[in-house]
Amino acid sequence: MLSYRHGFHAGNFADVLKHTVLVAVLDYLGRKPKPLVYIDTHAGAGSYDLGSDFPQKKREYLSGIGRLWDLGVGDAPAAVSRYVDLVRTANAAGVIEHYPGSPAIARSLLTAADRLILFERHGNEAEALRRWAVGDRRLTVREEDGLAGCIGLLPPPSKRALLLIDPAYEIKSDYEQVVKTLAAAHRRFATGVYMLWYPVVERARVARMVEAIKATGIRRIARFELGIAPDSDGFGMTASGVVIINPPFVLGGQMDEALPWLADRLSESGEGWFRSETLVGE
Ligand SMILES: C[S@@+](CC[C@H](N)C(=O)[O-])C[C@H]1O[C@@H](n2cnc3c(N)ncnc32)[C@H](O)[C@@H]1O
Repeated sequence: MLSYRHGFHAGNFADVLKHTVLVAVLDYLGRKPKPLVYIDTHAGAGSYDLGSDFPQKKREYLSGIGRLWDLGVGDAPAAVSRYVDLVRTANAAGVIEHYPGSPAIARSLLTAADRLILFERHGNEAEALRRWAVGDRRLTVREEDGLAGCIGLLPPPSKRALLLIDPAYEIKSDYEQVVKTLAAAHRRFATGVYMLWYPVVERARVARMVEAIKATGIRRIARFELGIAPDSDGFGMTASGVVIINPPFVLGGQMDEALPWLADRLSESGEGWFRSETLVGE
């Protein structure tokens, strides 16, 4: 029985990294007028009420988006301000009450011609997602396995897609399964943009996954990591990362500015760190 609910973690430091990258990528893809398909293989509930029971349990958002909110982002790099501004638009009163998940971020940045296909396998989350999506004909919610379901959607008719793979890694085989999915998706649609998020809980597991991604032979891969403490196999998630295939050419520069700033602001212990690198070149 899987117990993961993103509501417990919405807006934490890992969401800050994932969603800062997501906003930057969607902004870039939005520069072209051709329709885009956004596929979220692990969509969650769509959007989160931070005052509700799950977020209030551990209040993880306070050390993620909450910190940026309180400290202010007057001197922040452009990619961070853009992300925080987008969260602000979801919060009318100037107090942070709502956190937009990846479907809400994509929904707010996509045009009337774009489509969003959102996979969510957990019944309660899928139900919340359906309620949240109601009335917007661009959105399709599929209550099924996103890793298997995304493959048949590729290539999309417009030949433009961003696929976000964002599992909870509750099932350890996810680390292998995501690589198989990336390889299969890329075989069908080599010019798509693919984003994979992962937690750094056990560095050896992440290192094996990254080596397996490199071994697929896929080219043009970048990777960004943001940590709030040094790697440690005993203290839960100390960092998280995003691997991106076919990244926008401006993304590396944007993240080189954003990551040191975020590492400095988000680590309470002052041990924040980051990594921005090309895993595989052209
Ligand atoms: C990390 S959360 C997603 C967060 C969301 N992408 C965001 O950024 O706001 C992972 C979600 O994937 C769901 N899930 C787990 N395995 C899945 C699968 N094989 N297919 C689709 N959804 C899955 C979980 O129920 C959970 O809601």
